Amino acid sequence: MQIVIVKNPEEVASYGASIFINQIQSKPDSVLGLATGSTPLLLYKKLIAACQAGTISFNAVASFNLDEYLDLPEEHPQSYRQFMEHEFFKHIDINRSATRVPNGCSEDPWQACAEYEAAIANKGGIDLQLLGIGRNGHIGFNEPSSGLRSRTRIKTLSEATIRDNARFFTAEEQQPTLSITMGIGTILDSKKVVLMATGKHKAEAIQQAIEGPLTAACPASALQMHRDSVVIIDDAAASHLDYADYYRHVEQQNQKLLMKYGKSI
Ligand code: PGA
Repeated sequence: MQIVIVKNPEEVASYGASIFINQIQSKPDSVLGLATGSTPLLLYKKLIAACQAGTISFNAVASFNLDEYLDLPEEHPQSYRQFMEHEFFKHIDINRSATRVPNGCSEDPWQACAEYEAAIANKGGIDLQLLGIGRNGHIGFNEPSSGLRSRTRIKTLSEATIRDNARFFTAEEQQPTLSITMGIGTILDSKKVVLMATGKHKAEAIQQAIEGPLTAACPASALQMHRDSVVIIDDAAASHLDYADYYRHVEQQNQKLLMKYGKSI
């Protein structure tokens, strides 16, 4: 794992954006795995700016979102399809038919999950997957106890996640308790993974994910098994790490290698 500790959310987003920009510049028809939540918002703003400045184009890009609520119509303001539309897609030149979010309103959600997996495979797999992390260590809606090799499926949201997401729903709105999410196995199949986290409230989950044991109790710890994962965090999210100084040192060495060879470890 590459662990990048920077000062604040702004720097987390800039570092993440540079990885996405490099990816799209080197492979214009990249397949991106995208995420919702508060954490990616600043990253999306930076990618929108890069697109509007002509630095990158999403014209040939395809995307797959991590998850969607079950039984929430696509048009519902809190659906993840709407989130992506408002926060990202409508501001960039992506071909809407190349954007996929799991279908939470299919008559046969099991079939919808299988089709989602097939659609990813048909595109040749995900080149670069963006992830946030829940306070309970979840990635996508893979809550603690999720199988480490799980595929896209229906998941029951944990009480902690329902509580954390309650802020988006009004008192009259029925908050969903089920979802469709890519599995941990699906995520691990991505060629590269970028996980971003900011704030003290994520510090415990980040410590468990990076330095804790590989365990279904902390789904993000599965990234320890990934060949090319980058965790980008701010000082607050890094505050519980035992080896933060070492990660900072490694990153300095990486920057030196980058200057000298144009490549890092
Ligand atoms: P957040 O959510 O970015 O809103 O903190 C992350 C997640 O739950 O995966």
